[in-house]
Parts: sequence; C-alpha cells; structure tokens
Amino acid sequence: RQNERESLFIVLNFAKTFFQEALLTSEEGQSIGLSYFRERGFSNPTIEAFDLGYSFDQWDALLKEATQRGYNRELLEKAGLVISKEGADGGSHKLFDRFRGRVMFPIHNVSGRVIAFGARILKADKNQPKYLNSPETEVYHKSQVLYGIFQAKQAIRQENVCYLTEGYTDVISLHQAGIKNVVASSGTSLTIEQIRLISRFTPNVTILYDGDAAGIKAALRGLDMVLEEGLNVSIVTFPNGEDPDSYVRQVGAEAFKTYIRQNTHDFIRFKTDMLLRDAGDSPFKRAEVISEIVSSITRIPDPLQRQVFFRTTAQQLHVDEQTLISESNRLLRKQQ
Ligand code: CTP
Ligand code: MN
Ligand code: MN
Ligand code: MN
Ligand code: MN
Repeated sequence: RQNERESLFIVLNFAKTFFQEALLTSEEGQSIGLSYFRERGFSNPTIEAFDLGYSFDQWDALLKEATQRGYNRELLEKAGLVISKEGADGGSHKLFDRFRGRVMFPIHNVSGRVIAFGARILKADKNQPKYLNSPETEVYHKSQVLYGIFQAKQAIRQENVCYLTEGYTDVISLHQAGIKNVVASSGTSLTIEQIRLISRFTPNVTILYDGDAAGIKAALRGLDMVLEEGLNVSIVTFPNGEDPDSYVRQVGAEAFKTYIRQNTHDFIRFKTDMLLRDAGDSPFKRAEVISEIVSSITRIPDPLQRQVFFRTTAQQLHVDEQTLISESNRLLRKQQ
C-alpha cells in the first residue's frame, strides 16, 4: 500500500515536470500555453510557484515519454494520467493521455506533493468541459483537498484568516497580488474534511465566492458545517459577474485589499439578510427564516458566541431574544 502510494507520487511528479517543460521550453507550449497565462496576467514567479504547465495537443505525448522512462501503464492509469479504452473487438485496449491541449494546474497536498491535476481548455468549447480534473485515486480524494493549501498555509497562520475561493485562478491571482492566505474549494461544496484542514491553521474563514447566484448559494450550503466545527465565518461578496481573480485584476492589489476590509460581513448576519429579502412580508416565510437561522446558531459550539448571535440576530429580525433562545432549546430537545 505504502509502496503504491509512493510510486503514484513519483509518477505524478514526473508528469508535473513534463507539463512544466512543455510549457516553458517547447514551441507549442510557449505559443499556446504560456501566452494564455500571459494574457491572464500570470508572471513567471507565479507560474513557478504553482508549477503550472501545458499538455501537448496529442493523443499520447505523456504516455510515450513515461513508458520510455520505465513507468508502467498500469501505474499511469492508476495515477489518472492515462485512460484505457476497450477497442471495438472487446479485446484490445487503447491507451491515451487524459490531459491534452490544456493548461495544467497541479494540485498539491498540504506537504507539497503533487496528487492530481486540474486542466483548463484554452478556448471556450461547448462540447468540452472548461476544466478537466484528475479522477479519484489512491492519493487524491477530491473532498479532502483544498487547492493552494501548500502555498497558502504559512500565510494563513500569519494572517490568522483563510480566504476561501471557488477556483484555481482565484487562488493564483490573489497570491500574485500579495494576498497569499487563499485556497479554493474547486467548485464543489465544502466538506467537513476541508473545514478541518483549514482549522489546523486558523479558526477564521472568509468566503470569497463568485459574485453570482450560484456562488452565493454554494456559500450558504457549507455554512452550518463550518459553524459546527467552531470556525468563525465571514463573507465578502463581489459585484455581479466578478470573481476574485477578475476583480483583483480590474482594481489592483491595494484597492482589492481595501474592498475586502470594507466589505467583510459576518456570515450569519449575511444569511439572515438574504433569507429575509426572499421572504418579503409573508409572516409564514419570516417564521421559517427565524427557525432556519436559529438552527444555524444552535450549531455553534461556544455558548458565549451563541449568546452574542442570539442578541444581534434578534435585533436584525425584530423579535425577542428569548423567542430565539426558546426555539433553539426546542431544536436541541428534538435532536436528543
Ligand atoms: N470547475 C471544474 N469543472 C468545470 C468548471 C469548474 O472543476 N467544468 C471548478 C474549477 O476548480 C474552477 C472552479 O470550479 O476553478 C470555479 O469555476 P468557475 O468559476 O467557472 O471557473 P474559474 O475558476 O473562474 O476559471 P476561469 O477564470 O478560468 O474561467
Ligand atoms: Mn517548483
Ligand atoms: Mn462561477
Ligand atoms: Mn474566473
Ligand atoms: Mn470563477
């Protein structure tokens, strides 16, 4: 088992280097991949810090080089680098590279080893996904990983807050702008393992999700779990259509930092606002909002914090604090 994991790390590291060399030294990589990154404003040190690369637009460029170097096909398949497809006759197997003609974003674990790849298409194409990612493997469990954690962990400790974004390029652009305490959930909703990973470095999380309905919804979904783990959650929303990457490029590093400072809101307060807006004047809907928010607050493990939230939320909802506390006690009794 341990040996197999080690072999996977080694072949993944080989692939990382192969993609990096393709990007930096090949004609195709430079003219397609590197110019793509340039257009996005990524500098050389940034490209190096994230080990970015390029996969040739060929069926078996990696497969060939890897077999020549003695990596066996089974291992390449287990690492998620190569796909095997059964031929029409049912007997023969065709092998080909999973990642072809894309810019490559290696995904590192917390100690810096490459465990998977995200791969972006260069031009929008409705027949192909924008990002293609490694499958689950022995060393890559998507739900337990946060993109950028290796590059961010020291800054997260130092700043004592972790910025949580949706995408690879959000992490990279903010890092380049000097904001290094950033990770990405990579488009999936947050899991308990990801939250525990963050809490190894800080109890404070600020969500910087995309400024669209999907981003806000995704942020709301993860909240209760994050509260249960005792983390303090804040949120910054961006103007409609912007994500942290596009916004920092638009306004620059300093203005971005100021924006964050001025637009960080407590997440429970934010959620209450959102739900209240949707409920309008309907008393039934408002009652539902109250019990939903109480349910969130009830999950906070620290009793003092809970008390503060009951007080501020009561003001926000124009109800009696005691009403919220009774509702909370009722929920707790129901759970037992
Ligand atoms: N994602 C994915 N597969 C897709 C689309 C998205 O895995 N087909 C994940 C990627 O990790 C991506 C994240 O979800 O970074 C956020 O998606 P999105 O906001 O659409 O992409 P961006 O990160 O903003 O990428 P870009 O700026 O390159 O369009
Ligand atoms: Mn490197
Ligand atoms: Mn989005
Ligand atoms: Mn983007
Ligand atoms: Mn985005």
